Amino acid sequence: MAPSLSYSPTTPQFFLHHLFLLILATPFLASTAAAALSLPPSLGQPSTIPSWKIQSSTTVGDDAVALSSPGLDTSSWYETKGSKATLVAALLESGVYNDTALFFSDNLAKVDQSAFQVPWFYRAEFGVGSVGGNGTGGGGGNGSTTTRVYQLKTNGISSRADVFVNGELVVGKDVQAGAYTGRSYDITGKVLGNGGGNGTESNVLLIKVYPTDYNRDFALGFVDWNPYPPDNGTGVWRDVQIAQTGAVGIEDVSVKTELSGEVKFGVDVRRWASSGDLEGEVECTILDPQGQAVGKPQAPFKFVGDEGNGQQQKVVVETKISDPQIWWPKQWGAQPLYNATCTVSTSSPSSKEVSDTSSPVRFGIRTVSSSLNAHDDILFTVNNHPFQALGAGYTSDIFLRFSPSKLRAQFQLVLDMGLNTVRLEGKQEHAELYTLADEMGIMLMAGWECCDKWEGWTYNDEGSGLKWTDADYGIANASMRHEAALMQSHPSMLAFLVGSDFWPDDRATDIYVAALRAHDWDVPIVSSASQRGFPVALGNGGMKMEGPYDWVPPIYWTDTRLGAAFGFGSELGAGVGTPEIESLSRFLNDADLQDLWQSPNKGLYHMSTSVSAFYTREIYNEALWARYGAPTSLDDYLQKVQMADYEATRAQFDAFVLRWSDIERPATGLIYWMLNNAWPSLHWNLFDYYLRAAGSYYGVKAAIGRSESVVYDYRARELHLVYRGLVAEGRRSVAVELMDTKGVVLGTIGHGINATATPNSSHKLPLGTQVPDLLEKIQDVAFLRVLLKDGEGTGGKVLSRNVYWLSAREDVLDWDASTWYHTPVTSFANFTALNGMDKAEVDVSGKGGGKVGLENKGSVPAVFLRLGLYSGDNEVRATWSENYVTLWPGESVELDVAVHGDDYEGGEVVAGGAGGLEVRVSGKNVDAKRVKLDSVDAPEL
Ligand SMILES: *[C@@H]1O[C@H](CO)[C@@H](O)[C@H](O)[C@H]1NC(C)=O
Ligand SMILES: *[C@@H]1O[C@H](CO)[C@@H](O)[C@H](O)[C@H]1NC(C)=O
Ligand SMILES: *[C@@H]1O[C@H](CO)[C@@H](O)[C@H](O)[C@H]1NC(C)=O
Ligand SMILES: *[C@@H]1O[C@H](CO)[C@@H](O)[C@H](O)[C@H]1NC(C)=O
Ligand SMILES: *[C@@H]1O[C@H](CO)[C@@H](O)[C@H](O)[C@H]1NC(C)=O
Repeated sequence: MAPSLSYSPTTPQFFLHHLFLLILATPFLASTAAAALSLPPSLGQPSTIPSWKIQSSTTVGDDAVALSSPGLDTSSWYETKGSKATLVAALLESGVYNDTALFFSDNLAKVDQSAFQVPWFYRAEFGVGSVGGNGTGGGGGNGSTTTRVYQLKTNGISSRADVFVNGELVVGKDVQAGAYTGRSYDITGKVLGNGGGNGTESNVLLIKVYPTDYNRDFALGFVDWNPYPPDNGTGVWRDVQIAQTGAVGIEDVSVKTELSGEVKFGVDVRRWASSGDLEGEVECTILDPQGQAVGKPQAPFKFVGDEGNGQQQKVVVETKISDPQIWWPKQWGAQPLYNATCTVSTSSPSSKEVSDTSSPVRFGIRTVSSSLNAHDDILFTVNNHPFQALGAGYTSDIFLRFSPSKLRAQFQLVLDMGLNTVRLEGKQEHAELYTLADEMGIMLMAGWECCDKWEGWTYNDEGSGLKWTDADYGIANASMRHEAALMQSHPSMLAFLVGSDFWPDDRATDIYVAALRAHDWDVPIVSSASQRGFPVALGNGGMKMEGPYDWVPPIYWTDTRLGAAFGFGSELGAGVGTPEIESLSRFLNDADLQDLWQSPNKGLYHMSTSVSAFYTREIYNEALWARYGAPTSLDDYLQKVQMADYEATRAQFDAFVLRWSDIERPATGLIYWMLNNAWPSLHWNLFDYYLRAAGSYYGVKAAIGRSESVVYDYRARELHLVYRGLVAEGRRSVAVELMDTKGVVLGTIGHGINATATPNSSHKLPLGTQVPDLLEKIQDVAFLRVLLKDGEGTGGKVLSRNVYWLSAREDVLDWDASTWYHTPVTSFANFTALNGMDKAEVDVSGKGGGKVGLENKGSVPAVFLRLGLYSGDNEVRATWSENYVTLWPGESVELDVAVHGDDYEGGEVVAGGAGGLEVRVSGKNVDAKRVKLDSVDAPEL
């Protein structure tokens, strides 16, 4: 029974006050018994606690021994739906909070945090089943049939916890500390039903979680990205598991591969029980991507003497796979995945018995390396090919909710835009993320986060986090070991960044590197995402963090200073990412919406936090007003915003790809800041919280969404042919035309420029001064259309089409006045002529099969046509082959639309209506129109 809370956006105070009382005082939830875990009879493959009962110590007191005893009445406790949830996430699931309401306007600021400043309890029951032996557990047995050991495995609890089983303390908060600390604890002596009983005894697992403080604890923080969740993410945010093994268990399996097919498994085995010599073997059964067995290599192990339990050793199991199927990033090829299941057996002269079996480990055969070039810029290679990382920074959900379907939808958007990399800054999520990246061919740059406890190194006085103590180095070690084990086997791993804004001190560096190496880490370890300094042991990381994070004009990106397109930019962008009205109205009230254009300098709750340089849209709006003209309405503001956003991301990505093969100083990679937002935000994303794509998304897609294109350099006024694939080579032609706002052709270049596409490269088209000469003809504003066609001459298929709107007046930057987050502009480009353009009439036709035709019937360009797909008045989640399209008079294009037919709500992707579809089209100088579509297929992305 969920509480029925009436909520009206106009009375948030009432709602939140009410809600607070409910949390503290009213045990109102009916209890159906939580789905208890019952272990399978076989050894190996840990079982996950499926759900939890949750309650505050304010409500149930602090007697952990009593609370972890069997038979407690938990009918007044909240219950999670799944195996993990932070406190706030659990209360959302229980209906105490409602995120539609919490995210609306500034409601989140009104939640009282005091409910989360006390410990809370997570409680679950489990049975270990009948094992039919005598269950000597930690005692002797020498690997005999009677040995069965139970382990409790944590994978990270935010941020400190005491763990009890059946009234006994298993581990305290000094050891189970850090949101990424995962360990195995022997609970054999504490469980009931361990052989001696009848197998149905209920065991109680109780986890007491302590409040998280981002500056004191190793947690998952958000710096200035968004408001902090009221509980700072406290709770069991990752799975907790119970495992049962014989005397020897498998802790982890690492995989190292060579393109020749050599595969080396590093199987960490741990001795849990028995004394004296103990030997046996490890065997890994390998299946190829088609499911055929391709090997069963083995290797022996031996624990010598009476060295006590807890001993660990790495057993290396090797083989060579013939005709290996190579794993590639998506843009270069397929993602064949092998898997291996490893078994450890103990043997005595008379018998051999299985002691533990790993979960299947999926791996791909690929290699990754990095080097510093002559400019100290990092350059990655994948399968020996130079790999230009084009990515964006990922964040978890504000309440650390994790949905595989949502992540899949996000990764589809990543690929659809043409990105090949995702950076996880201290948001390591769950195993499913890595599995999905492996399957979809997305490279991952993982690493620890900046600016809080994680960077509280002895020398660093700039972060807000408390300095590390001796104990903290231990937490860092445990965290790194757990994450290395989680990630190592995944072919999608590109690098691990042990520091972000700052580099770890030497002691931390040694710990991190040793932990990664202990798990056979075989892709680059990067000292930090910036070049403020580096530890000697790792050397320069070769990444730059020089901004910008706020608006800069397109011409910024092909300069040679700061964040411009050279080297590897680890987090940078023009700060854009404004959602369209359909999304904005889900989280802003009318006053907030009007503020966007009527109070351009106001601090906004859905920007960065109030202590941040990014609390207002001042820098962005100043440029928007100057370049596109003062907005006349909210609609007009949003139309201009999408043009500015598109222009910003396209120019950034164009610049980095056109400098990929630069002789002076290549652009080796960029991570756009950011990919997504933890909650509904007004900036720093390529798609919004509801997974809808707008200007920033289609700007990126225009730059890199096709494997080849011709892109424009605003500064040098040059065109470059970019080819991102590995195979095709061939002749191309390029057609360039400049048209003014009245539809007059100001000039063309040649009758087809011939060029050769060469794999994985960019090169300047040899046009001399033709482009600058052409652009001299611009009076106020004109459109530069660049077509890339297959084959020589002019008749070939159009491979890419790009239209740039250019001003006679360039943006002028004041580089000397740059800050860490932007470079100011002293004179702005002027696009206001767009506002006085004649109307263009556009024909829209549904062509079936997911195709929509557009034709400009007018005599002037039809500018920045936005297409949306609607079911009734609801916008359907869809992606277009291109969007925000500008068409020449008489020109027609055919666009593909992929319908996702789902929406994003409450932390999950949910089914959305996709019946009775219509396309709505509107543009800068094109009146809105609607056209019904008879059939729209949903092509695979
Ligand atoms: C949450 O609140 C919104 C608006 O206030 C309401 O429409 C929605 O039904 C609520 N969701 C739940 C699960 O109660
Ligand atoms: C199993 O043992 C428990 C106590 O150890 C007892 O309460 C329960 O009735 C027994 N169940 C069966 C099916 O024998
Ligand atoms: C969350 O962490 C911040 C420090 O980053 C701290 O000021 C705040 O009190 C914490 N909130 C809770 C509920 O502990
Ligand atoms: C292992 O590979 C086989 C064959 O491809 C497949 O059926 C199975 O699902 C894989 N297991 C995992 C966990 O990926
Ligand atoms: C491009 O190639 C075509 C066909 O080979 C040829 O007719 C044309 O003159 C070439 N164009 C230029 C500008 O060289």
